[in-house]
Amino acid sequence: MSEKPLRIALTKGRLEKDTVELLEKIGFDCTAVREKGRRLILPIPQANLEVVLAKAADVITYVEHGVCDMGVVGKDTIMEMKGKFYELADLGFGKCKFALAGKKGHDFYSGYDVKVIATKYPNVARSFFEAKGMDVEIVKIEGSVELAPLLELSDAIVDIVETGSTLRENGLEVYEDIAPVSARLIVNMVSMKIRKQEIENLIGLIEANL
Ligand code: PRP
Repeated sequence: MSEKPLRIALTKGRLEKDTVELLEKIGFDCTAVREKGRRLILPIPQANLEVVLAKAADVITYVEHGVCDMGVVGKDTIMEMKGKFYELADLGFGKCKFALAGKKGHDFYSGYDVKVIATKYPNVARSFFEAKGMDVEIVKIEGSVELAPLLELSDAIVDIVETGSTLRENGLEVYEDIAPVSARLIVNMVSMKIRKQEIENLIGLIEANL
């Protein structure tokens, strides 16, 4: 085993929690991560791992640049950011979907006017409508995208739907499913070459415990 720990970037929040549970199921002692306080880099010495806690988009940036060997991030962020890395495992948790949604009972596809789409995921929205050959105007929103059709800024939204409660409680509904989303394990391309054995061993343990 190489001296330097393998660095794995985890998306802070839900995916972090699910990943820590998975690592504990493998048998790794994650006390340092559980008792992290405000620390952002935490060791799992027994597994020669170092956990880095970051926002989803930054997980991809750190893995792409090779300062983290691996990362756990949602397929939503991967679809939006793309980037050069290997996507090696579907971890099965963090399940939700991308959907086109808007006001209940509204016929989104009627009429010939260019539709306005609000989203936190402009690239995902653009590819979805490009594939349909439909010209739309995309407006980037930073959070609570559901507000946009309610305030009549947009005809619809492209967003993540998990339980569907946010849509339901705001009088909105799914018009069309776009793509399923779940947490993925990504690996830096160079790390995959130079630390292949360690990474494959870890992925083996992860897959055996999913
Ligand atoms: C996400 C998403 C929806 C909501 C869907 O937002 O953008 O608003 O969760 O979940 P549901 O189907 O279970 O209701 P998030 O909580 O990440 O907040 P944000 O929109 O402010 O980023």
